[in-house]
Amino acid sequence: MLLTGIIEKKRDGGHLAPDELEALLHAYMEGGLADYQMSAFLMAAFIRGLDPDELATLTRAIIDSGTRLQFDEVGGPVVDKHSTGGVGDKVSLVLAPLLAEAGLRVPMMSGRGLGHTGGTLDKLEAIPGFEVSVDLDRFREILDRVGCAMIGQTKEIAPLDGRLYALRDVTGTVPSPPLIAASIVSKKVAEGIGALVLDVKCGRGAFMTDETRARGLARTMVDLAAAEGVRATALLTAMDAPLGCMVGNALEVREAIETLRGGGPTDLREVTLALGAELLVSVDRATDVQDARTRLAAMLESGAALGRFARLIEAQGGDPRVADDPDRLPSAPVRAPFGAPGSGWLDIHAGRVGLASVELGAGRQRIEDAVDPTVGFEFHRVAGDRVSEGETLVTIHAADASGAATAAERLDSAVEISEEPPARCGLILERVA
Ligand code: URA
Repeated sequence: MLLTGIIEKKRDGGHLAPDELEALLHAYMEGGLADYQMSAFLMAAFIRGLDPDELATLTRAIIDSGTRLQFDEVGGPVVDKHSTGGVGDKVSLVLAPLLAEAGLRVPMMSGRGLGHTGGTLDKLEAIPGFEVSVDLDRFREILDRVGCAMIGQTKEIAPLDGRLYALRDVTGTVPSPPLIAASIVSKKVAEGIGALVLDVKCGRGAFMTDETRARGLARTMVDLAAAEGVRATALLTAMDAPLGCMVGNALEVREAIETLRGGGPTDLREVTLALGAELLVSVDRATDVQDARTRLAAMLESGAALGRFARLIEAQGGDPRVADDPDRLPSAPVRAPFGAPGSGWLDIHAGRVGLASVELGAGRQRIEDAVDPTVGFEFHRVAGDRVSEGETLVTIHAADASGAATAAERLDSAVEISEEPPARCGLILERVA
């Protein structure tokens, strides 16, 4: 069949046989199919969906477009975590060193913030000197030495995904559950891991605002990973309000350090322990989730996980002294208080906070934008608190007074105060295994 015939078949809702879809993807990688033709295919897939066979074929083609790393399990089980993205989500910064301290190995490849959600790479780069562009040899060496390594996507791993994602980003085809599932799972499988935990965020600050869709995405990703030989579980976690109290790159590193020291906000600690416990159980390093949580919590309290984070920072060229002295992180020149506009129960709209932080300079609107590591929001109260008119709810960290003034205007619509406490259905909404 002609390649255009394959696109037409998907457009009309037909099922693509593995050899048809493979031919299309192969031609694209080899230069025999143009970007505009692949964009048309992606739109057809977005509208018509992909059935489980097509999804498996796409995922496998993305994996096979590059290197699939291999690690022996002698140095410890190889695992990773992926989050679908949220506001204030600095879990990876705490979880990677914590799991390494527990004897697991974590070859984590992360992304940058795009849209209203933050990205792990931008947070890591707020640490003076930290390098996220590391070649695969050095990546392996750091992993062997420290037990975890945290880098950006390399050109060797799943290059087809990079090309497809660039087209999806500009053709309105990102929010498609099968395309997201193939993109995420292929990259994780190519990392050579044996077990994966997925944090599927759900709520008004997440990619998936609707719980049914989030559950469907979680199920699809867990099954897809299993078909590739990776034990996966997913937790659906609430993303209605920001996670933790800090939003912004250096501020989030500071909060991650506090959490690695045994403190930190309750919700951040809770999500981190829940995700970590899933992995410890899936690689038989704990008898059950409770046992796993107790062991991980002890590594936070003793400071051992923080020590591991300092080693990771040093191995990746950063200043490890920030672990003991977070004041070494860069800070914004302007700090402005934002007072409660009334008295009552506080609610905080994560999506609006995320957009306000992008406007302040903490995130990017286009992929090529630079981020300011210092700016962001420091919440002194969390959603569900009772607050009094005029008390300081947030400190705005800004590059200048006009940025702070605009951020305060945005916070006006992100912060809600009502007579009734906000309805909440818990932090960990569901487990999908
Ligand atoms: N993150 C990814 O890596 N891929 C997607 O398609 C969406 C989010």
